[in-house]
Amino acid sequence: MSRIEAEVGKPQGGFIKWIDDRFPLTSTLKYHVTEYYASKNFNWWYVFGVLAMVVLVIQLVTGIFLTMNYKPAAADAFASVEYIMRDVEWGWLIRYMHSTGASFFFIVVYLHMFRAMLYGSYKKPRELIWLIGMLIFFVLMAEGFAGYLLPWGQMSYWGAQVIISLFGAIPVVGDALVELIRGDYSISDITLNRFFALHVIVLPLALIGLIFVHIVALHEVGSNNPDGIEIKKNKGPDGVPLDGVPFHPHHTSKDLVGIIVFLMIFSAVVFFAPDMGGLFLEHANFEPANMTATPEHIAPVWYYTPYYAILRAVPDKLWGFILFAMAVVLPVFLPWLDRCRVRSIRYRGWMYKTALSVFVVTFITLGWLGLQAATPTYVLLARVFSVLYFAFFLLMPFYTAMDKTKPVPDRVVYHG
Ligand code: HEM
Repeated sequence: MSRIEAEVGKPQGGFIKWIDDRFPLTSTLKYHVTEYYASKNFNWWYVFGVLAMVVLVIQLVTGIFLTMNYKPAAADAFASVEYIMRDVEWGWLIRYMHSTGASFFFIVVYLHMFRAMLYGSYKKPRELIWLIGMLIFFVLMAEGFAGYLLPWGQMSYWGAQVIISLFGAIPVVGDALVELIRGDYSISDITLNRFFALHVIVLPLALIGLIFVHIVALHEVGSNNPDGIEIKKNKGPDGVPLDGVPFHPHHTSKDLVGIIVFLMIFSAVVFFAPDMGGLFLEHANFEPANMTATPEHIAPVWYYTPYYAILRAVPDKLWGFILFAMAVVLPVFLPWLDRCRVRSIRYRGWMYKTALSVFVVTFITLGWLGLQAATPTYVLLARVFSVLYFAFFLLMPFYTAMDKTKPVPDRVVYHG
């Protein structure tokens, strides 16, 4: 033994041991991956959380490369995007991956949220996971909105004009708030600059931080499952839940299949239909922003249109804003609005099943209506569906309490 070894102690376990003595590597991996026990009956609804992470990585990586050639100035922005599309090596691919990624982010996150509604994942003790999820959703909405202004196309400009001016309806502070968001008396170069700052650093950082705490909160209480049964209630003599399997390799291998299928669908859109017929990239946005010519029909991107339809359904500006904001915020309260004793839809009664089915139809119809021109018939329809949207949430304490539930088994249902 050398003199130094004698002084600091003989090395006992190689490199990993060296790290572990200075950083909780092995214990963290055990806690979050190899000894994180999640129910063995996860179905495909459980893949969307991981897919959201995959999309996040796609957005971050392609975003960094876009930033290398994009110019956040009103005079240059549109041309710099054209330059990326035509002259930058693989620029078209990077840009289409990013624009398609934005829509896929919302598809995946909407399905992820719907899964929580199917299996009551927001119920005790997972309320905080849901609340953090809602914060993620708000930041994601802001991130998409800021990003859409950057190409400085007609819809970037006029879409932002409509949405930002909404805040003007707020009594007393409205006008000042609008000026604060724009940084100017109209949407200008200054607005573009601050939206760029928000889009490339502030909001992505907030997203990453929130996703981190989302997972920490999830692993503190453990994942729910399609039966809504607490697997920690049935533990073996070794303290391991009888219905749980280690996250790795069991769920990681299954997730990998989901990721591959997802990437196949994602690539098909990127390569064959990147604008999705005007849904993912609106046609008007292929023209540069022109503050003297309003597009014939202004509509936000599809993922905001359910809320936009609600906004347009209300004739009064202030009430329109209030209902629009309420529609976005109401899901925050789901853990307390839902008074049903069981979590999973499998053991709920017909009332919740009907309500959730009507809600899905309502949300999709509102989304479709928000994309159409506001003709009297469509506005009337939007009013009817807005009432159904709010009824789902506001009547929930009643129909979930009255619903006749089925007995919940002690152990998860698994046909291996
Ligand atoms: C970028 C966005 C998001 C990412 C990356 C993300 C990631 C994840 C991951 C990896 C899981 C565990 C795997 C799974 O259960 O699918 C999870 C669980 C969960 N997430 Fe998210 N999430 C995001 C957004 C949201 C949003 C917007 C909500 C709801 C408002 C939400 C609510 C939940 C809930 C309730 C669970 C627990 C589900 C259960 O155990 O059944 N998440 N999330």
